[in-house]
Amino acid sequence: MNNTLAPFFYPKLPIIIGHRGAYNSAPENTLISFRKAAQLGAKWIEIDVRLSSDKIPVVFHDDEVDRTTNGQGPVDRFTLESLQELDAGSHYHTDFSGEKVPTLLQTITLCIELNLGLNIEIKPNLGQAVETVTAILATINPFQEQLRGNVLFSSFNLLCLKKLVNLSPDWPRALLVNDLNKDCLTHTKALECYALNPNYNCLANIENIKSILDSGLRIIPFTVNQISIAKNLLRLGVHSIITDDLESLNSLKNYKI
Ligand code: G3P
Ligand code: MG
Repeated sequence: MNNTLAPFFYPKLPIIIGHRGAYNSAPENTLISFRKAAQLGAKWIEIDVRLSSDKIPVVFHDDEVDRTTNGQGPVDRFTLESLQELDAGSHYHTDFSGEKVPTLLQTITLCIELNLGLNIEIKPNLGQAVETVTAILATINPFQEQLRGNVLFSSFNLLCLKKLVNLSPDWPRALLVNDLNKDCLTHTKALECYALNPNYNCLANIENIKSILDSGLRIIPFTVNQISIAKNLLRLGVHSIITDDLESLNSLKNYKI
């Protein structure tokens, strides 16, 4: 095992994690989606975090607001106030109109209330890796006690993970990858990662799973929406599954191999 994290910060990883909240059941990355995930029995959710133009960490997936709100343009041109004037619910269904873009702070507060664990994917706007991590840590570090065992950071961005390990090494980290190349395990080792979070398509080859497990990492694939695929991955040794479809996959929450 390459893991040297203090037990205090070890995540109590569930088998099923709700992608962007309850992606299939509510508008992604909104407070109502996080409440819905909890109602559907999720113990943890995955969220995407980046900065508003006034450098407040907000929960938002895309670089631009167009797909999921009634606004237009890059997120990093919107102050928090102007972002929160947008409608982040109607794109999913008019029943959710008026739903707002949440801050990370609002999300943390809700997750503590609901006892929901958080996989925080750091998704910086272009050129903002370092300042995004700094702002996220300033927001989350005061909640270390309440969030113990209930947080895992992840990122595709190596600079973000490097900054995270330098500033707050005790928060557990995961490297996100779309492809498994020879550098992945070198990076996870250098960054003292707790987990590797691969696109599940990388795991078609059983040898890939074995080599990750042999390096002492947890494996948390995204985004798996078919029960048969999820069961097969769990049988092969992955630890947790990120899914859009909590209504179906949460039936695996007590899955035993
Ligand atoms: O963290 C897993 C997954 O969310 C990564 O991809 O694009 O959905 O953020 P994406
Ligand atoms: Mg994500």
